[in-house]
Amino acid sequence: MVDPEPFIEEAIEEIEAEVGDANAVIALSGGVDSSVSATLAYRAIGDQLTPVYVDTGLMRKGETEEIRETFSFMDSLRIVDAQDRFLDALSGVTDPEEKRHVIGEEFIRVLEREARETGADYLVQGTIYPDRIESEGGIKSHHNVGGLPEVVDFEGIVEPVRDLYKDEVRELARELELESVISERMPFPGPGLAVRVVGEVTREKVEVAREACHVVEEELESYEPWQAFAAVVGKGTGVKGDNRVHGWIVAVRSVDSRDGMTAQAQELDWETLQRIQSRITSQLDNVSRVVYDVTHKPPATIEYE
Ligand code: XMP
Repeated sequence: MVDPEPFIEEAIEEIEAEVGDANAVIALSGGVDSSVSATLAYRAIGDQLTPVYVDTGLMRKGETEEIRETFSFMDSLRIVDAQDRFLDALSGVTDPEEKRHVIGEEFIRVLEREARETGADYLVQGTIYPDRIESEGGIKSHHNVGGLPEVVDFEGIVEPVRDLYKDEVRELARELELESVISERMPFPGPGLAVRVVGEVTREKVEVAREACHVVEEELESYEPWQAFAAVVGKGTGVKGDNRVHGWIVAVRSVDSRDGMTAQAQELDWETLQRIQSRITSQLDNVSRVVYDVTHKPPATIEYE
């Protein structure tokens, strides 16, 4: 386990030494990895760092407002509304890896523009150890690993937490006194709600996933899951009032894990599951069914795509 205090001191010194008087950019998603990396870099080089938060339209409920508040101490923070751009680009795309590819491409374009505008020579990334392992193993392409450096001619890439596991990054976040909404935040995938919507990403499906995820996060807080969320997995018949409806099927997933490489489905009590089901189906007219996923990783992955 990393010793937070000396690690932070050393990381700040290293970033200062590497970036010097140059400018840097970081994609700040609000996840613990990018938040810690951005905070370390901000402490090292101040407003020479431009943290860029891209609202892809695939973010959690209330995420953008939360970011604006939490990182208000960073004067150079840029919030980019790119919702239409991402959702338009995803129209008609159904293959999971192709979805990641489209999102990665759009993301690169947006960040590239910001990097040019701010004259950034360095890219700071919140890559952690498991991201590198899974990408190298070809299990899944994580869009926060690779891609960007090939397109934008950065002088250097700075990855202050590249050798750490998620729980170690959380330790740093606590030591850096980041708010607990950040330090204790569940992992959220780079492609966002797009991987919590099976098949084509539409505004309607994303909205269902966003609201359902919010309900699940609220209801399962006391279980302290490593990750808990809802996904839109298909359509099925139901009855609402006197009508038969062909509504969305929402899958609820809650897992324990250390690093996301393996995970165990959590055992939840019936009342909790029923409360989740009832809130989701009553709040969302177009949802006809809620199921709970009992599969561990392996053989399933944590996300649905
Ligand atoms: P899986 O679904 O592969 O997820 O079992 C393992 C962990 O990684 C997250 N995840 C992603 N993170 N880009 C990311 O930045 C991605 O494309 C991606 N896919 C999965 C997932 O949420 C879990 O924490």
